[in-house]
Amino acid sequence: MTNQTVTVIVGGFYGDEGKGKIVAAVASREKPTVVARAGVGTNAGHTIVHENKKYGIRQIPSAVFDCPDAKFVIGPGVLVDPIIAVTEIKTLGLTKDNIAIDNHCPIIEDHHITQERANYNLMHKIGSTGSGSGAAWADHVMRSGPIARDNTFLTEFVGDAVGIVHGAIERNENVLIEGTQATFLSLYHGEYPWCTSKDVCASSLCADVGVGPLHIKDVIVVFKAFITRVGNGYLENEISVEEMKERGWDEYGTVTGRPRRAAPFDFKLAKKSIMLNSASKIAICKVDVLFPEVEGITEKEHLSTRCLEWIKSIEDGCGIPVYCIGTGPDAKHTVFMC
Ligand code: GTP
Ligand code: IMP
Ligand code: MG
Repeated sequence: MTNQTVTVIVGGFYGDEGKGKIVAAVASREKPTVVARAGVGTNAGHTIVHENKKYGIRQIPSAVFDCPDAKFVIGPGVLVDPIIAVTEIKTLGLTKDNIAIDNHCPIIEDHHITQERANYNLMHKIGSTGSGSGAAWADHVMRSGPIARDNTFLTEFVGDAVGIVHGAIERNENVLIEGTQATFLSLYHGEYPWCTSKDVCASSLCADVGVGPLHIKDVIVVFKAFITRVGNGYLENEISVEEMKERGWDEYGTVTGRPRRAAPFDFKLAKKSIMLNSASKIAICKVDVLFPEVEGITEKEHLSTRCLEWIKSIEDGCGIPVYCIGTGPDAKHTVFMC
């Protein structure tokens, strides 16, 4: 019998849906013994608000505060920038006992960052984060780039992330895979070339940490109550900056500080995302922005009628249940619906 203990958290739109916050909330409820980061690399920025302090995490899994006894790993499919990784490990108070960067993680070097930032097409047409991710990935594909086991700066924190994940699965313990970027930024399923440098849908997130499909218990697709997109590319029903500010939908990128563009929730995109990820449950962040009366609420019973009706309309329109909603930036500000 194959143990099905793995939950995958994947972005449903164009990134920045609030995956970091949902990972933290789901981890505090499901108590995984391992949380594994998947996705591209340091182009991602997951915002965690803990005890009123805000962290923009680019490498380390986002459950560090909400699931302190877990082991945190970075899968071999994820690019690592050694300076960013070690700085985060130290800032977040992790040690070699609870973090493992897989031996095979490809390394982002300074020249990758310089190369991307000098590339007009990437920086101005695509709107890349300039984090060196695409350039490092290209070197890795050409089998000429370094990997974590060769990096002396990382030595203390390098290990067998895949083995740690499978140890937990064998013991029938919960494992959480934290995706970054999102479905419509995928190199395969996004709007090429306005996309990131890799596929970032659920099946690739599993491959990033070495987990096959039969171990998957749930795929939670994370949506936001409205859509945001940072960088260039098409955004259907995009609203003006003035309207964004009026509605309280204005946001700024965690990695680059750029303003995010916005559009209303889109059922057509949501359904396609559910299909591409075989999602079993939905998480929706920023519901408090649409319904200010639910701000900070943690119990389903305290949600307003109009908010409950809206959640029902999401379930009816998408065809799968809403597992949880975000009512504020803090992981604690989450309502689990079932
Ligand atoms: P990427 O991997 O870069 O796509 O990031 P992400 O999905 O983790 O999202 P990111 O943290 O970049 O952006 C989400 C923003 O919304 C952050 O500023 C969060 O603090 C905030 N946020 C998340 N959930 C909620 C919520 O339920 N309510 C409110 N008001 N803010 C939220
Ligand atoms: P790159 O992956 O940094 O080259 O960026 C390519 C495109 O994906 C740009 O439009 C970026 O803004 C976008 N992007 C990459 N990573 C993220 C993310 O984590 N959140 C949101 N957008 C992202
Ligand atoms: Mg982000």
